[in-house]
Amino acid sequence: MPTKVIAVANQKGGVGKTTTAVNLAACLAALGQRVLLFDLDPQANATSGLGLEKTEGASAYRVLLGEGNLLDKIKSTAFERLEVVPSEVDLCAADLELARMENHLLRVAAVLQPVLESQRFDVVLMDCPPSLGILTLNAFAASDGLLVPLQCEYYSLEGISMMNRVLNQLRDAGINPRLDIFGVVMTMFDGRTKLSNEVVSEVRNQLGARVFETVIPRSTRLAEAPSFGKPIIHYDKYSSGAAAYELLAQEVLKRLEG
Ligand SMILES: Nc1ncnc2c1ncn2[C@@H]1O[C@H](COP(=O)(O)OP(=O)(O)O)[C@@H](O)[C@H]1O
Ligand SMILES: [Mg+2]
Repeated sequence: MPTKVIAVANQKGGVGKTTTAVNLAACLAALGQRVLLFDLDPQANATSGLGLEKTEGASAYRVLLGEGNLLDKIKSTAFERLEVVPSEVDLCAADLELARMENHLLRVAAVLQPVLESQRFDVVLMDCPPSLGILTLNAFAASDGLLVPLQCEYYSLEGISMMNRVLNQLRDAGINPRLDIFGVVMTMFDGRTKLSNEVVSEVRNQLGARVFETVIPRSTRLAEAPSFGKPIIHYDKYSSGAAAYELLAQEVLKRLEG
């Protein structure tokens, strides 16, 4: 099977993109998938969440500008079958610098090409910054689909309508004709509150089968794990957060194979 490329995206910050990217990546790897997590957020939270230091010059920045090969930026992690292209703050400049380049929306797609050709990975997950800037649009242009975390809060659906508009523009412009929403995952669910339950039903009403059955609970263990540089399944294997991301990974795998 060709490598599947999924962008974890939502222009809102703090909705669980990085938490989902890191934990889904780890759970897919635990299920036997060879996974590359491509950290495209200058904040580099996915990088540190996997236990890697932020290292000067380690990000994809130079490669995106046309110097070198992304394959040389791939780092292994402490977790089997899980590798990463780290980020660091230099990626901040990428939005501006890329804007000046030819085919500036297709830079990520271009640098991913040798990675896809190498057939080293079954899945590439990209952790996007909290904006619809050029890096995010690049991730959209390079992906087979978007995985959108939505926080269980009012207005969470507003974000998705904006992303849908951008998605349609990229598709209609021929920049990525295959682009679609791969799935929506509800995050930070608190079953004790009416709000969480209402938001989940509302989102399911609106988006139907796109929404994964698995809902990610609010859990302090999930929030703590990154400070130990570990995905939840390696930090607290028997927590509710670990169980949820394991189930999500199974659903994702089914969709990827389906
Ligand atoms: N299910 C969850 N339960 C508790 N805290 C969470 C959960 N998901 C994310 N968080 C915390 O919320 C904050 C924002 O999450 P993060 O994944 O970094 O969002 P984003 O990447 O969208 O900005 C982080 O501090 C993270 O640890
Ligand atoms: Mg993030």
